[in-house]
Amino acid sequence: MIAFAFLLSVFFTKTRTASIIGYIIMILSGIISDNILSSIISDPNTPISVLRGISVIPQFCLFRGLRALRNGVAWGGPGMTWSNLTDYGMHEVFIFLVVEWAVFLLLAFYFEAVLPIGPGVKKHPLFFLPKALRSRSTPLSPDKGEESKDVAEERRIASTEEKFPIRVLDLHKRYPPSAGRGPKIAVNNLSMTIHESECFGFLGPNGAGKSTTINMLCGYLRPTSGTAKIRGLDIVEDVDEIHMQMGVCPQENVLWDDLTGPEHLRFYGRIKNLRGEELEEQVAFWLDQVNLTKAKNKTSSQYSGGMKRRLCVAIAMIGNPSVVLLDEPTTGLDPASRQDLWKVITEYKKSCSMLLTTHSMEEAEELCDRLGIFVGGKLAAVGTPQYLKAEFGQGYRLGITTPQEYEEETKKFVFEIAPKAIQLNSLAGTQNFEIPKNSIKLSKIFKVIEKEKEKRHITDWGLSNTTLEEVFLHIIETTMDTQSS
Ligand SMILES: Nc1ncnc2c1ncn2[C@@H]1O[C@H](COP(=O)(O)OP(=O)(O)OP(=O)(O)O)[C@@H](O)[C@H]1O
Ligand SMILES: [Mg+2]
Repeated sequence: MIAFAFLLSVFFTKTRTASIIGYIIMILSGIISDNILSSIISDPNTPISVLRGISVIPQFCLFRGLRALRNGVAWGGPGMTWSNLTDYGMHEVFIFLVVEWAVFLLLAFYFEAVLPIGPGVKKHPLFFLPKALRSRSTPLSPDKGEESKDVAEERRIASTEEKFPIRVLDLHKRYPPSAGRGPKIAVNNLSMTIHESECFGFLGPNGAGKSTTINMLCGYLRPTSGTAKIRGLDIVEDVDEIHMQMGVCPQENVLWDDLTGPEHLRFYGRIKNLRGEELEEQVAFWLDQVNLTKAKNKTSSQYSGGMKRRLCVAIAMIGNPSVVLLDEPTTGLDPASRQDLWKVITEYKKSCSMLLTTHSMEEAEELCDRLGIFVGGKLAAVGTPQYLKAEFGQGYRLGITTPQEYEEETKKFVFEIAPKAIQLNSLAGTQNFEIPKNSIKLSKIFKVIEKEKEKRHITDWGLSNTTLEEVFLHIIETTMDTQSS
């Protein structure tokens, strides 16, 4: 009956529903046994085939066994012993229970592995056969639409070059309709690569599909179509092997309230095959790296939000995984802890391939070697921060400060030097202008302003390149306009 309970548990995702249905099954089988089966089993004319049919259900088989036991110990009888079990039909009860135990455990294991209930990527229904004998459903071919040249080149590289540790190939995720809303395409035909010793930053507005992508890469969600190769292993076919070399820090902290930091690290370290002294060394090392050594005796329920986040990053990195996925690892950290964690990530990325999502442009510039800007489930731009600024930046920003009464005169002066300049704002004598790229040589601006600054009463001035934030906002704005038109 325990094996039967394991089998039933596969079909439930909520404890409460499972408990209620469990009680209903118990009560119903009690009522049926007592009122219907009791007379059938005790009737000597009942055919053996009916008794065997009843025994297929483990609760009824147990009831049959209890009836046999009752007959066996009846007053005045010879008593039930191992030698006369057959006289009471008890031998069949034992055989049925043992066989059912094995069959139900096997079925529970099989359904758990293949049925698409609950989280995780499920195995092919014929997973026990060699790979070549399993036919995979034909993937959808979602429309690729228009792509910028860098995204198209990234797609070409992903599909042709196999040397990269992470290759995402036409990954697509469509959530089924729910709560009165239609289906949602969260990731639309994504192709990209992440190189060795590279930290790839995923930037994008809320709901762009960043976490959905990470959840597919780590095997928590099954792609609707497409796939990804992690060190040559397929995220749908080889998820167990992939887990041995991957570390993940999900967007939501996944911690047990009653376990301490070291207990969490020991648990995940053992999953990564660390044992004995090596495990203890790694636990101490990662606790120290994320500054949690002093809090090692506290349970995670006593941790602050930032401490929980740091523990999740340590969990992702214990066991030296060669592929690391970090979904907003520094959310909720104070500036000092964030700086410390940046150092840890910068050091660790040298020995792995890392995908990191963040909403902080400062963090992206500090940690990431390449960035992908993700909008509406698609990559809108990809490249190094310098490339994105040069390619998508709108120009230079010129800031000039004068006493307020010279504001108009200064404005005219800027338009004389750079006729295509756009005034962005003006406040108490400080004015900011955007100077389009290639409209004027930077050296000319420097020369003229430096020469004229005293005559023009300029007290302060500066010229800066486009920031990553401006590039990000510009790409999002233009991509959203294109997607909605
Ligand atoms: N289980 C689900 N069922 C239906 N839609 C979902 C589900 N999970 C996510 N979505 C939708 O998929 C889209 C992408 O969500 P996702 O969490 O991947 O975004 P994100 O880029 O990580 O956003 P954020 O920056 O806020 O973390 C969103 O529109 C979201 O509403
Ligand atoms: Mg997210």
